[in-house]
Amino acid sequence: MRTTVSVIKADVGSVAGHHKPHSKMLEAAAAKLKAAEESGLINTGYATHCGDDIILVMSHFRGEDNPEVHGLAWSIFKDITEKVAKPLKLYGAGQDLLSDAFSGNVKGLGPGVAELEFEERRSDPIIVFAADKTEPGAWNLPLYRIFASPDNTAGLVIDPTLHDGFKFDVLDLVESWSVVLKTPEEMYDLIALIGTVGRYAVSKVYRASDNEPAAAASTTRLSLIAGRYVGKDDPVMVVRAQAGFPAVGEVLSAFAQPPIVSGWMRGSHRGPLTPVSFRRGQNVVSYFDGPPRVIAMGWQVSNGKLVGVDGVEPSDLFEDPFWDVVRAKAAEIALTLRSMGEFEPARLGHEEMEYTTLPQIIERLRPRFKPLEVQVSKK
Ligand code: F6R
Ligand code: MG
Ligand code: MG
Repeated sequence: MRTTVSVIKADVGSVAGHHKPHSKMLEAAAAKLKAAEESGLINTGYATHCGDDIILVMSHFRGEDNPEVHGLAWSIFKDITEKVAKPLKLYGAGQDLLSDAFSGNVKGLGPGVAELEFEERRSDPIIVFAADKTEPGAWNLPLYRIFASPDNTAGLVIDPTLHDGFKFDVLDLVESWSVVLKTPEEMYDLIALIGTVGRYAVSKVYRASDNEPAAAASTTRLSLIAGRYVGKDDPVMVVRAQAGFPAVGEVLSAFAQPPIVSGWMRGSHRGPLTPVSFRRGQNVVSYFDGPPRVIAMGWQVSNGKLVGVDGVEPSDLFEDPFWDVVRAKAAEIALTLRSMGEFEPARLGHEEMEYTTLPQIIERLRPRFKPLEVQVSKK
């Protein structure tokens, strides 16, 4: 029996600026997922949020890129935009629904998608990550640590089932091509590409010994679709764990040294990706519209269904007080970066910024530009 976990997300409006969706939006999304469960379209559905993004997690037997499953997600986002976000004049109502031209797949229309189809093992733990105020490349360093770094994942060294390494499917978000790289053999090539986080992003990871799917990440860049700033892409990711994959604790370890990611205020700054607890209500941004943050939801996939700690309610994997130390460290990094104001590297490089006044400033100053005299030495 092959089960698919589909995670589809979009920011379709929020309360108090880009802060948090209205509870009626989440209630409406949950009700539609319930109806889809009852009709047999999906096996389980769960609606939550990370910051201003609504995340739909669905399990089903219909495979990846299924038009009905994508159609369900699209209709939920459309519905809560029209019935809740717009009437209440919520902020950025419908912001990530860039087109009305749905024809079977939400990719390219705005929502972010991470899907993984696999044969269920005897017992199959998964983690779904969702981040706010950052971009798909934010997963590059954690995915490298989880599946390629022996310093993070002990199993790569000491567990025979992981020792052959993993394959990374890397996308070029600018020129739209992909390449598969195998670690440990091609680790330096992998780092050379995915170290450029604004351009290359990992879309899938497979176990090298048998090509078993290990992880899927959303790779949408809204600004590349729309050709203009429309909000950061706030990515999601599904990772399988244990018994032939990195242990849950190894997967989470990748977030213990907060990666500095792009996004944050006005999608134009660098900040620490802070691991937060959704049960403690930390999945909302505040300081300088951030810092960027990530939640981790743990489930078992059992007979096509998502099994959480209480019904479909997932385990909150960053709730442990250990992560308070990491959060405090991330806050220190955030304050240090902010002490730099609008100077790089706290502010993104010109070409990566989502908002910029630079072209207008250059145009206004142009009449005052003086050519530099070129000094030619006459030897
Ligand atoms: C970043 C983000 C926010 C906004 C900022 C300005 O992804 O969503 O930081 O960019 O609050 O928003 P506007 O231009 O809507 O006033
Ligand atoms: Mg928003
Ligand atoms: Mg967001």
